[in-house]
Amino acid sequence: MPRVAGVAVRLALAAGAGLGLSSCAYQNEQELFASEQLTCDTVSVTYRGTIAPLLAQHCQRCHGPTRAESGVVVTAHHDVQTLGRTGQLLGVIQHKPGYPAMPDGGPMLAPCDINKVKIWVRAGMPDN
Ligand code: HEC
Repeated sequence: MPRVAGVAVRLALAAGAGLGLSSCAYQNEQELFASEQLTCDTVSVTYRGTIAPLLAQHCQRCHGPTRAESGVVVTAHHDVQTLGRTGQLLGVIQHKPGYPAMPDGGPMLAPCDINKVKIWVRAGMPDN
């Protein structure tokens, strides 16, 4: 009788530990997801509201009307769309091999901004 009870207790403990672990992992996942959502809005990505301001801030001083390094301009939707199609836009901002890393001489864009550009390119680079 005591032996059986001991096994039962051990089983209960093991089950409890198992539950504790899994609920903890689940909670962490939710927290990570929540903070990602709070800091990075990847739901309402548009060209005019998201992509154009991002390029204006980080790229246009070298790729605009007054200066067009490598002949690249990122002021009009059409130009950015072409860069998206050729893979250059994502190549340069993600520092992929074979592309010059952009912004030239500056820090890489924030992961959130890179995600937004990826989402827009994947969506077919709409002029919205
Ligand atoms: C400080 C100036 C500067 C900034 C800011 C800058 N670039 Fe550039 N960009 C350059 C120069 C210089 C080159 C030519 C580099 C080379 O060919 O090695 C270049 C080249 C490029 C090219 C051509 C790549 C190729 O395959 O030949 C693209 C596309 C580009 N930049 C996009 C961007 C984007 C997008 C941003 C903003 C995230 C940006 N650049 C920010 C200076 C800049």
